[in-house]
Amino acid sequence: MSFIQKPCYYTGSLVVLLPLTLLCLIFLLPLSTYLSNHLAAASGAASGCLGTANVAAAPAAGDIEDAGGHHSDFSILIGVHTMARKHSRRHLIRMAYALQQTAPLRGAARVDVRFALCARPMQPEHRAFVAMEARAYGDVLLFDCAESADQGKTYTYFAGLPAMLGGAADPGSGRPYDYVMKVDDDTFLRLDALVEALRDAPREDMYCGVGLPFHDRAFPPFMLGMGYLLSWDLVEWIASSDMVRREAIGAEDVTTGKWLNMGNKAKNRVNIFPRMYDYKSAKAEDFLESTIGVHQLKEDIRWAHTLEHFNLTTLKPSSKLYNF
Ligand SMILES: *[C@@H]1O[C@H](CO)[C@@H](O)[C@H](O)[C@H]1NC(C)=O
Repeated sequence: MSFIQKPCYYTGSLVVLLPLTLLCLIFLLPLSTYLSNHLAAASGAASGCLGTANVAAAPAAGDIEDAGGHHSDFSILIGVHTMARKHSRRHLIRMAYALQQTAPLRGAARVDVRFALCARPMQPEHRAFVAMEARAYGDVLLFDCAESADQGKTYTYFAGLPAMLGGAADPGSGRPYDYVMKVDDDTFLRLDALVEALRDAPREDMYCGVGLPFHDRAFPPFMLGMGYLLSWDLVEWIASSDMVRREAIGAEDVTTGKWLNMGNKAKNRVNIFPRMYDYKSAKAEDFLESTIGVHQLKEDIRWAHTLEHFNLTTLKPSSKLYNF
């Protein structure tokens, strides 16, 4: 289910709306209690409620049917790692991904975009706004971690997901998603290119991203933090490994590679270099045709250039935007 179809949007027919609203209430009540309580006392159990809210009504992986009757072959959870205070940036990113949830994309894969936030610290105004976003969009995942670089947020994210997502969404598939991605909030992903790159990739023991060194196609020791994916079995392994828990802290991208290397995991590695890269300029030649992602989009103007280049800003001539 894409987030433009989230049950928490107050659109759609009453028949659909009523049970979904009840679902939202059931799962969001613990959330609002949680958010209104002192967040320093955040517990893993409480953040679990928030995770459940986001997936409870999602269709099972492996046999997804969208409104057009297409079946998705596989599913990806994209966690955009960001901070509570960045409301306007989240709004922009939400639009950038909502606009890409086309029928062909939904037919090829289920791509759920969520925002991964640490609950500590969270100022009162951020807590209020985040709670509203969670209610309006249902795309917030709150983790029991401290929001500071390289203090184990990535570990908490991967290790927390199996409990938050409640195991298999579909008993047949055995997993809620085929892949889980961690992406920075200054990275723009082209979802169709990402899905196409993964279509024939292994679904298990898989680690995909921009590998370093770039030209190690077969087995790069780690993937750059701008954005990388793990197959679900590796997420479960991270959640259950004592070794990984001991090694949780460190420069997050190198550290993820270190866990996998130490654990003799991820024998399938897909190096998507150079298809995800740092922004250079607004010039067309500075964007690759085969782009999967553009990184280093810190300023609004860089987002604007990138979104314009990839035609996300193109209006239909018939749109009633102008009065001239
Ligand atoms: C954007 O749209 C224009 C006009 O349809 C097209 O020529 C161009 O190739 C598109 N750009 C990308 C990156 O898809």
